[in-house]
Amino acid sequence: MCGIVGYYGPKNPKEVIMTGLKALEYRGYDSAGVAILDKGVFKRVRAEGKLSNLSEKLTAEDFNGHLGIGHTRWATHGKPSERNAHPHTVGDVSLVHNGIIENYMELREELIKDGAVIESDTDSELVAHLLNRQLKKTPDLLPAVLAILPRLVGAYAIVCVNVKQPETMVAFKNGPPLILGVGSDAMYIASDVQAIVSYTKNVVYLEDGEVVEVKGTGYKVFSAKGKPTDKPVVEINWTADVASKGGFPHFMVKEIFEQPRAVAQAIQPHINLASTTVEMFELGLDQKALSEIERIFIVACGSSYYTGLVGEYMIERLARVPVECDIASEFRYRHPVLPKNSLFISISQSGETADTLAAVRLAKAAGVKVLSICNVRRSSIDREADGHLYMNAGTEVGVASTKAFSATLSLLNLFSIAMAKAKGKLTLAEEQDYVRQIQAAPAQIETVLNLDKWFKEGADQLKNFRGFLYLGRGVHYPIAMEGALKLKELAYMHAEGYAAGEMKHGPLALIDDDMAVVMLAPHDELFEKSISNMEEAKARGGQILSISTGHNKRLEEISNFYLALPEAGWFTMPLLEVVPVQLLAYHVAVSLGHDVDQPRNLAKSVTVE
Ligand code: AGP
Repeated sequence: MCGIVGYYGPKNPKEVIMTGLKALEYRGYDSAGVAILDKGVFKRVRAEGKLSNLSEKLTAEDFNGHLGIGHTRWATHGKPSERNAHPHTVGDVSLVHNGIIENYMELREELIKDGAVIESDTDSELVAHLLNRQLKKTPDLLPAVLAILPRLVGAYAIVCVNVKQPETMVAFKNGPPLILGVGSDAMYIASDVQAIVSYTKNVVYLEDGEVVEVKGTGYKVFSAKGKPTDKPVVEINWTADVASKGGFPHFMVKEIFEQPRAVAQAIQPHINLASTTVEMFELGLDQKALSEIERIFIVACGSSYYTGLVGEYMIERLARVPVECDIASEFRYRHPVLPKNSLFISISQSGETADTLAAVRLAKAAGVKVLSICNVRRSSIDREADGHLYMNAGTEVGVASTKAFSATLSLLNLFSIAMAKAKGKLTLAEEQDYVRQIQAAPAQIETVLNLDKWFKEGADQLKNFRGFLYLGRGVHYPIAMEGALKLKELAYMHAEGYAAGEMKHGPLALIDDDMAVVMLAPHDELFEKSISNMEEAKARGGQILSISTGHNKRLEEISNFYLALPEAGWFTMPLLEVVPVQLLAYHVAVSLGHDVDQPRNLAKSVTVE
């Protein structure tokens, strides 16, 4: 999940590469480095930790060259350290790599036998050794890359340079994303468009197995076998997403507060305001094909998976179509049966998650239509899908997903209506009622955001609990899991999300005075059952934070803390109840002094298995 940049052109490479790396820092932030050709040698500067550490080191450095590469790292092989930071330089070759070389043990042994001195613990350095060895036989970078490609097993996006070819960069990929930016007097290579969009809007999206050779301001794309390939230049109309915190102390809390707008932007293209009905045009299936769908698979990772679980509930309840929701990293390894007339829905904010992408490819290979729900347009998953639903949430910078989560839930709300309609399970009046509920959600989320103050003040107390159990039933259960994930990733505290009814099958043993129990129990058909579960936890000393709606004497008596959400039905309640669990995790993490936007060990885009 590292970010890589390559640049050839007249501007100061240091500036261009650092601008690119800043935009890519979401992909990894445990070390960073650049190598810039300066008076015939690659001057390499690397630093452990965040990009700002590299920036500081670079202030004293001057470069006169016009060619360079840069990297921001999320460690896979070898701990975060300057020694393991990229670029890796071996002989004449320097390179940056995003991905994992799976056969690195075999390569390492072979190279050591061959006399190579390996300086880092990374898999990436081995590719530099292979290339350097190959350059002795084929002194040009492109044929050298083509010669070593069959040796690489795994996932990679690599940009490499050769000190003897001061106008050349060669880049190649299998798995992680890689794009080429074509400027009027300069060439760019990067992990994503945001890294280069302030310099050029002309982009070539490289596919797996492709190799691009940049020579001066020209370029050629080849297949892995060296066959020239015609690739379209796509003109993008993006602007540089100048990430600003807009007065908030962190991106995450800004994004939490952007949720009313994110939901409104997600649903707006799909609602016919005149008839208060749902119209989804980009599903990749016409109405007839939609009505013939007999089974739906939803596949995603992390928070996106939890939205999928809510989607499973909504679609089955409204459309009566069986839905299986799977974790993408498990999906292909369980040898799933994908019957005819299935629809595969992938959910991914980034559109780059390696496991989700692999699951999409498996579904496509089985002849199943793929509907992608994603935020980043033209991302790898988006490009492979047959149908598209866009979150329209705007760039999500915080590693912890918030507004993309809500935007996805609202799209699943609408999709479940569309599916139910196609199946003839919804009257017009029912459809309109559901549409009105979702239209009301942005304003209701605004109201829930008022709880921010409560969590800010309570964080110092909440952070002292030994652990947190998040409980919910039905559609609230995935939100309980999302709450626990948020707390884990931001506060580094132990937290679990459980189906409330499962407590007596084991987890009750965890409960004592030091355990906080966050109960998601809005007034709905499961409310009484949830109260019983809370009584059980209370009787064992659990400290209860209830998130409910309206007032209920018994519930308020049992609860140590009681928070009321606006009244809403099961259909949109997940959109409301996710906000307090986000705020809880955010404020506890801030109070513990953690870096909430870039929590330790994580990255925004997970492009390795
Ligand atoms: C959520 O807070 C996480 N950072 C993580 O679980 C994330 O949702 C997951 O990695 C999936 O990412 P995607 O939506 O970009 O595929």
